[in-house]
Amino acid sequence: MFKIRTYNAISSKGLSRFPAESYQVSSESADPDGILLRSQKLHSEVMPSSVVAIARAGAGVNNIPVADYTEQGIVVFNTPGANANAVKELIVAALLMGSRDIYGGMNYVQGLTEISDSAEMGKLLEKEKKRFAGAEVQGKTLGVVGLGAIGSMIANLALELGMNVVGYDPAISVEAAWQLSSSVERMDNLEALLARADFITLHVPAIPATKHLINSKTLAGMKATAKIVNFAREEIVSTADIVDALDNGVIAGYITDFPTPELLGRSDVLLMPHIGASTEEAEENCAVMAANQLMDFLEDGNIRNSVNYPQIKMARNGGTRITFSNRNVPKVLGSVLSILADSELNVVDMVNKSRNDIAYNIIDIEGDFDASLKAKIAAVDGVVHVRII
Ligand code: MLT
Repeated sequence: MFKIRTYNAISSKGLSRFPAESYQVSSESADPDGILLRSQKLHSEVMPSSVVAIARAGAGVNNIPVADYTEQGIVVFNTPGANANAVKELIVAALLMGSRDIYGGMNYVQGLTEISDSAEMGKLLEKEKKRFAGAEVQGKTLGVVGLGAIGSMIANLALELGMNVVGYDPAISVEAAWQLSSSVERMDNLEALLARADFITLHVPAIPATKHLINSKTLAGMKATAKIVNFAREEIVSTADIVDALDNGVIAGYITDFPTPELLGRSDVLLMPHIGASTEEAEENCAVMAANQLMDFLEDGNIRNSVNYPQIKMARNGGTRITFSNRNVPKVLGSVLSILADSELNVVDMVNKSRNDIAYNIIDIEGDFDASLKAKIAAVDGVVHVRII
């Protein structure tokens, strides 16, 4: 029986993936094998030593101390792409609302509560509507910073809207590159993108390298008419520098779902809660994907969409499966195989993959496995974590 501890409201479609006969799923579990969460911040949580995997139903993992967990052998998963469509749709709304004063117009109409005569209302609105006129996005240039699952979807859709699209991503994956239309013009650096774009949309993770990517220096290279859309993470922009740039006419607008007090009450800023992925479909997709990945790891040791461990999969060959993670240094795998050989255990199949400083192994062996061997493998210098499944 595997135990899963949940945080936050996880879609029932995801929770129902766990078969009741082999999983106990609860927000109270004291000694869980796996954690399933959305936005709960784990930095100050003490993780029970029973935990081997954490799955985030979402893309960003800045609520999880990933580096610490890597050291402890805990595999962290996310669900790239599962909410991309929801975010993409909200970005389209942001582009349109940033081009035309839809919000101002709607607010104006809602404020006409003193008028009871519809002919009078119609006349007034006909006179006033010019105050809410705007421009079309067709023919404008969208700069997409970060061309992962979400960024590449937005880039392709913006082309459909008749926009010119320029993109920048120094770490674009092969998979994302395949998704991207060849009409998206690849920029060599961020500055080149910022100088070209009428709208800039950010789709990079919040990591030290992206902290305040948008700051007074990068803002200075943008068009005075440029508008920035940030539905990614607050830390990617320096909000103080954005306010300064807006005050001084360096840029024209900021649209974000990370509101902070200094952004309130400005006509050049559009704010909403962080709702990019808040659709029924996205919440279901993320929960189902996270649950599937967690089960595949707990039951078979396979790793799909981890942010700290390598992608790895091996079909079961019967017998016993040993999985272990180790520091990515020579001799560790050899030492483990020697332990198995000394115990007369035949390896039927095995796979070893590494990612940065960590390596991960799946070994299927024939015959009975003496439980004391687990401790022997765990004691090998460099081994981080061992499971027998
Ligand atoms: C994500 O990281 O997937 C989105 O920003 C939505 C969320 O935070 O849940």
